[in-house]
Amino acid sequence: MEEAFMQRTVTCGELRAKNEGKSVILNGWVARNRDHGALHFINLRDRYGVTQVVVDDDATDELEKMAGSLKMEYCIAVKGIVRKRPDEMINPDMETGEIEVKAEKIEILSECATLPFMIEEENNAREDLRLKYRFLDLRTGGMQKRIRLRHEVVKAIREFFYKTDFYEIETPTLVKSTPEGARDFLVPSRIYPGKFFALPQSPQLYKQILMVSGFDKYFQIARCYRDEDPRGDRQLEFTQLDVEMSFVKRDDVLLLMENLFNYVFKSVMNIDLPSHFRRITYQEAMEKYGSDKPDLRFGLEIGDASDFAAKSTFNAFTETLSEGGVVRYIVAPKTEGHDYTRKYLAELESAAKIYGAHGLAWMKVEGGKLSGGVSKFFAGMDEEVLSQTGAKDGDVILIVAHKDFKKCANSLGAVRNKLGAELGLIKPGYEFCWIIDFPLFEYNEDEGHWEAAHHMFSMPQAEYIDTMEEEPGKVKGDLYDLVLNGYELASGSIRIHDIELQKRVFRICNFPDDVAQERFGFLLDCFKYGPPPHGGIAPGIDRLCMILAGQSSIKEVIAFPKNTAALSPMDDCPSYVEQKQLDELHLAIADKKDE
Ligand code: AMO
Repeated sequence: MEEAFMQRTVTCGELRAKNEGKSVILNGWVARNRDHGALHFINLRDRYGVTQVVVDDDATDELEKMAGSLKMEYCIAVKGIVRKRPDEMINPDMETGEIEVKAEKIEILSECATLPFMIEEENNAREDLRLKYRFLDLRTGGMQKRIRLRHEVVKAIREFFYKTDFYEIETPTLVKSTPEGARDFLVPSRIYPGKFFALPQSPQLYKQILMVSGFDKYFQIARCYRDEDPRGDRQLEFTQLDVEMSFVKRDDVLLLMENLFNYVFKSVMNIDLPSHFRRITYQEAMEKYGSDKPDLRFGLEIGDASDFAAKSTFNAFTETLSEGGVVRYIVAPKTEGHDYTRKYLAELESAAKIYGAHGLAWMKVEGGKLSGGVSKFFAGMDEEVLSQTGAKDGDVILIVAHKDFKKCANSLGAVRNKLGAELGLIKPGYEFCWIIDFPLFEYNEDEGHWEAAHHMFSMPQAEYIDTMEEEPGKVKGDLYDLVLNGYELASGSIRIHDIELQKRVFRICNFPDDVAQERFGFLLDCFKYGPPPHGGIAPGIDRLCMILAGQSSIKEVIAFPKNTAALSPMDDCPSYVEQKQLDELHLAIADKKDE
């Protein structure tokens, strides 16, 4: 039988002045132990809060000795009496700050080894140390709050759906490898040598099949796996709220999501969102904000410079225009305490170049005239340029010329985001918007063929269907993204439910009929049996929680994430396996790399 321990009667977060005189037992971790001679003040912490425990100067020798032996993060039990603190000792920063517990008995439940870092509100240790000792990192105030926030978000999502007639249905995580954009994680089959399962990149095909099966309205909190390089808002495994509905049109899906996010923000954050979110077409988003996930918490719109650039004497501009390219600009506003030095302009240029800009031309506005940079090519055009751009004294006009609209837009979009953040233009709050009317196909220059911009199961808009093959780049899809504060929060579409149309899309994406049949035959077969019109969407739960927690990395809202090198330092995975395991799986390792 297990040894008995003093089991808690209250948590460390619940005692108040009204509990004065009560005999209690607390369990928790030693967050602080201050020794004032014969007097000890111990801060005892658990998930619910912190309570101050006092070992008074009238304590027995044994109790005093015990108090003196307690080190940080020991797990202990304390039996004692609640007493009000004297007025001058009340701590308004602690929820239990009106009281303390006078200890009568302390029991050490377990000791704690030397700590790799202090357990504080936020942990400033380097990331790999935090992740190696994640069990301790998770004890910090910040992580405790964020994991709780995530729980509240998921709870609110489920509450919302349980009030409706959606079914929550699980789909498998050992699935067929079907190209869906990213690289698959593969799981070798022991029973069938040379064959593999894949971990799902999302439940996409299964949710569509559930619609064919008549389940009408489905949701799932689904784990997804993609073998891609981790980034701030990306992990190898992440969680989606996956949703699919039959007999719906785009606006039904958008409305459902608007209602959902209204519910979640109200219940978790007590924030009222607008009942409908702004809709921006992909084209407009690219033109004005240089991004298909625009951050609308600040203005700084991008504009077309072709009118005045065409009249300039700057060859780089005039030639780009005559070759069918674009010249676009953004005005960096005069900002108190901020100088547009050459160094800073070079930094902006580097940000633009990441997205393909060849350079970032600039002109300052001084005394109502253009000056510096490329201004000499705009002789006599000061008034025209200023009136078109709206630039004022102290502003800087930044210009990118490129033969490719998208590269030009994205480059200026990166400049816009950098300016927004660094000039302090970002207003606090949550700015949602829908991006609609995306192109259905994108040209993959490396591989020399068209591919789906979202995935291959999205419906082309009706007017493009007949002539889709002629100019795939012009086809708009029934696609939509939900964007929040500059992050793509969710993506979805109305789906194809017609075999012939689906095959045509496969063909455009370089999957001839025989290959498509081999890879996606099960979907095509299923579509022979009365598929309903359907559509859906999938918001990323990690990203949502990251934004709500005011963080810029999803690792901050995931209990056990992988690091930037795609490893887990805590349990040291991925790791080598025994030869016997490889033999069972009929695998041989060709080149074994040591880190
Ligand atoms: P998509 O691939 O756009 O669409 O993903 C939908 C949402 O999932 C989140 N997300 C990620 N979050 C963290 N790490 C990642 N690596 C990652 N990748 C995606 C994002 C994104 O908006 N099956 C379709 C959805 C549909 O059409 O219904 C899909 O998976 O928030």
